[in-house]
Amino acid sequence: MTTLQHKVPTKLDRKETEVYRRLDPAQLPRHIAIIMDGNGRWAKRRHMPRVAGHRAGVAAVRSTVETAARIHIPALTLYAFSEENWKKRPTSEVGFLMGLLSRYLKAEVPTLNQNNIRLEYIGRQHELPGDVQERMEWARGATAHNSGMVLTLALNYSARSELVDAFRSIVSAASENGGLEHLKIDEDTVGRHLYTRHLPDPDLVVRTSGEMRLSNFLLWQLAYAEIYVTTTLWPDFRGVHLLEAVAEYQKRERRYGGLNHPESSGHAELEIALARPGQKR
Ligand code: FPP
Repeated sequence: MTTLQHKVPTKLDRKETEVYRRLDPAQLPRHIAIIMDGNGRWAKRRHMPRVAGHRAGVAAVRSTVETAARIHIPALTLYAFSEENWKKRPTSEVGFLMGLLSRYLKAEVPTLNQNNIRLEYIGRQHELPGDVQERMEWARGATAHNSGMVLTLALNYSARSELVDAFRSIVSAASENGGLEHLKIDEDTVGRHLYTRHLPDPDLVVRTSGEMRLSNFLLWQLAYAEIYVTTTLWPDFRGVHLLEAVAEYQKRERRYGGLNHPESSGHAELEIALARPGQKR
């Protein structure tokens, strides 16, 4: 494998540096989305309660966020918990996750500022407990001046609810602005009313713990994303694993439904067929 000789960002550890050297810094994904999964299984393997897995997951969040910022990924979105997690898990587990989030936000703001990271959220924030909403707003405000990576936490998030909210928002904006008769909806209109209107669509989605599902995450935005699944459980995931995902992403050929090689365009194939009649291809 060729090793590209380019400048390695400071503060990457030895293993991260090794993987980073294989990357092309000009072809980094603009937005990486992560489905953090496997906290419960991590804890079960250690005969610990599920919440111990969530607690250990915070170290994985910290490492992943810092490495992403250090290599200058413009946007990182973490699926912290879904609307389904919120509604279907025992109150004690949900309460624990809320406390963990509040403590994470309080403790992490200085590090986010040191790394020039701006915090955002997606999901039905208004359904979360009042004190958690206040802490979230505080952390957002305290990092709003940063101009580096945008870290978006998906909290009480569901892609289907996001689409429902977008359609409602389109209709309500139209009725306040001249009525529905002239309403025209195209893909840009939908994009402008999604929770993620501040972000480009993810180029890469990572899921930990080996599951091959999107689980109602960014269904519209992931239309052309490369999917990377690792069997690593979330609490064991670190910055180096993110770099490995980026290395794999850079090996993929992205075609957006088109044909990337000019020689395989319809015309070229036709010309070959005409020039060599009867020849097997
Ligand atoms: C999925 O594992 C993980 C969650 C539902 C919660 C994710 C939360 C964290 C990583 C920590 C807090 C987050 C922040 C941003 C501070 P699971 O419980 O579904 O695992 P399982 O599939 O093995 O049961």
